[in-house]
Amino acid sequence: MQKLSVIALDGPSGVGKSTTAKAVAHELGWQYLDTGAMYRATALAVQRAGVSLEDRQAVEKVLAGLSIRQAGTREFLGGEDVSDAIRTPEVTRWVTPVSADARVREVLVEQQRQIAATGGWVVDGRDIGTVVFPDACCKIFLTAGVDVRARRRALELEAKGTPQPLADVAADIARRDLADSTRAVAPLRKAEDATELDSGGLTLDEVVAWIVAHHRRHGA
Ligand code: DC
Repeated sequence: MQKLSVIALDGPSGVGKSTTAKAVAHELGWQYLDTGAMYRATALAVQRAGVSLEDRQAVEKVLAGLSIRQAGTREFLGGEDVSDAIRTPEVTRWVTPVSADARVREVLVEQQRQIAATGGWVVDGRDIGTVVFPDACCKIFLTAGVDVRARRRALELEAKGTPQPLADVAADIARRDLADSTRAVAPLRKAEDATELDSGGLTLDEVVAWIVAHHRRHGA
């Protein structure tokens, strides 16, 4: 199989995939695609339309009118900058059932393939190495324990001025881990040919340097 110059970066919630993927893309002079933001923007569209996922016709209508675009690190829905709106706790709850919907995934996976078809992309998500780009030249599965991820996330929330108790943050991460890895369609799992990297004891710079070096050795 011809390998595509895409770095597939998968892993559970809160492991630092997007920060890592952005930095790796910057190092390589590549572009970065945040597929989680696409699922979040879709969840926002479904929520705003007041549609139940059981109402298949209404879901199809939302999907038919869906216009999602990423410009740099900003996410646009129908021309509106929704970068902040898609990060609220409400959308974070909504995105779990929306991202488990097979039809939603079909539409978004197709868009992701079109966007990165030219190669030269770092793409982060849950199913990039397994489903979206099985032919990616480099696949990394980034992990860290729930406690490590919860502590990092709690510090981020505090820095943003929206602190939350550590136990609540950990419970939310554990809930998303379970939902993402047990759903029927495209569950979170490591691709057979992906390399697992435990970021638990590493700094962001160390993780980025490791991935860039790994890519230069094995993927380029
Ligand atoms: O990475 P994130 O937290 O922004 O992702 C938001 C949600 O979308 C998360 O609950 C899992 C889901 N997701 C997915 O199912 N597949 C992807 N490729 C990316 C994200």
